[in-house]
Amino acid sequence: MADKPSPDVEACLLSHLNSRGEVPDSRSYASSLGVSHKELEDVIKSLSAFRIVESTDVTKETWVLTEEAKGYVANGSPEAQLVAVIPPEGASKDVLKEKLGSVFDIGMKTAAKNKWIGFEKGNKDLVLRKVDNIKDELQEQLKRLESGESASDKVIDDLKRRKLIMKEKSIWYALKKGPQFVAKRKKLATDVTQEHLRSGDWKEIEFKDYNFGAQGQPIAVGYVQPLLEVREAIENIFLQMGFSEMPTNNFVESSFWNFDALFQPQQHPARDSHDTFFLEAPAATKQLPEDYLEKVKEVHQSGGYGSKGYGYDWKREEAEKNLLRTHTTAVSTRMLYKLAQEKPFAPKRYYSIDRVFRNEAVDRTHLAEFHQIEGLICDYGLTLGDLIGVLEDFFSSLGMSKLRFKPAYNPYTEPSMEIFSYHDGLKKWVEVGNSGMFRPEMLLPMGLPEGVNVIAWGLSLERPTMILYGIDNIRDLFGPKVDFNLIKSNPLCRLGL
Ligand code: PHE
Repeated sequence: MADKPSPDVEACLLSHLNSRGEVPDSRSYASSLGVSHKELEDVIKSLSAFRIVESTDVTKETWVLTEEAKGYVANGSPEAQLVAVIPPEGASKDVLKEKLGSVFDIGMKTAAKNKWIGFEKGNKDLVLRKVDNIKDELQEQLKRLESGESASDKVIDDLKRRKLIMKEKSIWYALKKGPQFVAKRKKLATDVTQEHLRSGDWKEIEFKDYNFGAQGQPIAVGYVQPLLEVREAIENIFLQMGFSEMPTNNFVESSFWNFDALFQPQQHPARDSHDTFFLEAPAATKQLPEDYLEKVKEVHQSGGYGSKGYGYDWKREEAEKNLLRTHTTAVSTRMLYKLAQEKPFAPKRYYSIDRVFRNEAVDRTHLAEFHQIEGLICDYGLTLGDLIGVLEDFFSSLGMSKLRFKPAYNPYTEPSMEIFSYHDGLKKWVEVGNSGMFRPEMLLPMGLPEGVNVIAWGLSLERPTMILYGIDNIRDLFGPKVDFNLIKSNPLCRLGL
């Protein structure tokens, strides 16, 4: 059988409007043309865009039958189907169930209520038919609804409850001529082709205007992960403030640089394997600066530089244990030690943003690895006031200008402060970082001159990123569950939301 040639919908519609002036219902017009409503709709949209036709939306909610109900229209209601299969001598429930399947249980209820069926005395299993003819009310109601008739509220409620009908919104259009109406649309050329040039008709034909407002295809390029985007913004803040980057490309660190050099005692709970990932191979570091190590040992055991020390037996094996660094402060410590070896002393501002690892239970705000942002300034005569001032500069560049400080404790800083910022979106104070002035018993053994202080602070990269991007589960930001479409569709990050 040959396919019917599809009609030129646009030409038909325009000539119809030209002679009749209107199309009151696009649905019936589409069926009179023998095309789908969707096909007509596309033509209407294109013609309306050029104001050749004017279309008015008509919406109506109608009740449509569910698949189950359609089955009842075809085969009768469950109760009617049940009555129809019961033979004159009756039948057992099992036999009927076998014949009817899921319809059996539904049919039993209504058929019993209508007294269409009964049971043999003393045998609840034998179903008997009590009537010869029945009127299939349900099937008739459904048929009426299907053909577009209305029904009483009670019937509708009942059918709705039985999940036999559902509401469907349909949209169609009423059409008339638009202000730019033409009986035949001129086809505008979009390109100058070889043909146009050869025949010379390009001189006469009309070309379609360029649409400079068109969005264009999304570009198939890589997109920057939000963490990297925020990282770069923060990096720029540090650079503008005169900081230079520390080399953080070593995830594996010795306990010595991660803890001991930071005056963190060897029994400290953070040095437990419940909190820190230790390496199995190589389990211990080979190289440690011997002179400095002796001084660190001395300070832990019996103090010095104004400190009483911790008064315990410091063990080299403990300091040699390799681990995944738990903070980038390990790198800061290495850098300060290096700086202390350079004579004469020159003040420095250092920053880093890189990954750290902690043995944490993973949940919606914690992963076993995250990124730490760290900044430090090393100079003569720095005070807590300098630290507060630098933090205010730094955080206000990030859009957090309302800060509060709370006294805190770190083994390596004194005084120490937690940093809180008022979050306008969340309408509360949120903790954004930790800070302090490195202790003299950490700095002096390194060889830094008397009177040199170090102010420092650290924060996670994930927290501000989650706030800026409105992400509330860290697994949507980092790791295998990140949705690439989210990354593609994110707006360019602006700090200070
Ligand atoms: N190391 C701290 C942390 O992991 C951050 C910090 C850095 C605190 C520098 C004070 C000084 O939370």
